[in-house]
Amino acid sequence: MLKENKAVPPHWLLNPAAQKEINMAMLFMAPKLKSDSWVKHLRAQDSGLDVRVWPETGQADDIEFILCWKHPLGELKKFQNLKCIASLGFGVDHILRDPDLPQGVPIARLVDESMIQTMSEYILTAVLYHTRQFDLFQQDKSRKKWQARRPLHPKNVRVGIMGLGHLGVDAAQKLHWMGFQVSGWSRTVKHVEGLTTWAGANALQEFLAQADVLVCLLPLTRATQGILDSRTFARLPAGAYLINAARGEHLVEEDLLAALDSGHLSGACLDVFRQEPLPESHPFWTHPAITMTPHIASLTDPKAVAPQLVENYRRVHSGLAPLHVIDIEKGY
Ligand SMILES: NC(=O)c1ccc[n+]([C@@H]2O[C@H](COP(=O)([O-])OP(=O)(O)OC[C@H]3O[C@@H](n4cnc5c(N)ncnc54)[C@H](OP(=O)(O)O)[C@@H]3O)[C@@H](O)[C@H]2O)c1
Repeated sequence: MLKENKAVPPHWLLNPAAQKEINMAMLFMAPKLKSDSWVKHLRAQDSGLDVRVWPETGQADDIEFILCWKHPLGELKKFQNLKCIASLGFGVDHILRDPDLPQGVPIARLVDESMIQTMSEYILTAVLYHTRQFDLFQQDKSRKKWQARRPLHPKNVRVGIMGLGHLGVDAAQKLHWMGFQVSGWSRTVKHVEGLTTWAGANALQEFLAQADVLVCLLPLTRATQGILDSRTFARLPAGAYLINAARGEHLVEEDLLAALDSGHLSGACLDVFRQEPLPESHPFWTHPAITMTPHIASLTDPKAVAPQLVENYRRVHSGLAPLHVIDIEKGY
């Protein structure tokens, strides 16, 4: 049972050197990431940390804390003394998809200001790329066509953000400061200065009807999987533009292609895909109305997030609840 946060910190929280006396270890389980930089920045927080890299786990019973990114499904259940599973990203869908998730182990996500800033930069870039008509200028260039086009003025562009969490609110506020008409949609009611907000499935239609640019910054859950589909697109104003920087599984790819090819949507900027890397044969590569980036909207910086990972590691060992725990039932 986790103690309240107000519990007195153990002596090694105040004196990390004392931690060496305690037999505990953290395990880096992210086969698709290079571990060197992660281990270096974790150890920079405390040279005494016992950081192991999967599959070299040593004694499985030593492992109290696992750092996860797209781990091999079924592996987590092998660690009987596990006290926390920590995502190496903002999302936790990659952890929750494990059918053998150990019961009762808290899952912590990252929250990092530099990643929030980076995501907002991405969303602003994508919105401005569209409103300054760079997407059309790129198409003109491929045809050697010289054609002046007037930008869309921010005050005439309504940007709708799906998801008003850490990322959505920051991007929304920055767009608002730039003069865009910004609205947001979340699961529960939110009040954000300068924004018109909607909440819940019943309000989705009304929210979509006024979004000239639709930005998806939702977590991937049972409720949001496939939410960017033909029904959603049909409710957007004609000529709307889509930006998806959340997860590839939010988008029904063939529905996007149909909406673009019919002219109902004017274009899309996509950072995430159902299959990554995107296969060479995928039609998105050559579609003139699709701008793509390879899942880089907001990359995790090991140096920036090492302090919060090590803090959580110490907290759970001492019986404190980790920071930024997600609600497994809600899925985010
Ligand atoms: N491409 C990249 O590089 C990259 C980088 C980082 C993150 N991401 C993605 O961005 C996602 C969002 O991150 P975050 O930190 O902003 O998440 P967050 O803080 O957990 O916020 C999630 C937001 O989505 C809303 N939401 C969840 N389910 C909903 C539903 N069924 N209907 C309506 N709204 C719903 C929540 O509503 P409430 O406020 O009512 O709870 C909340 O406003 C991550 O999960 C990750 O997948 C992508």
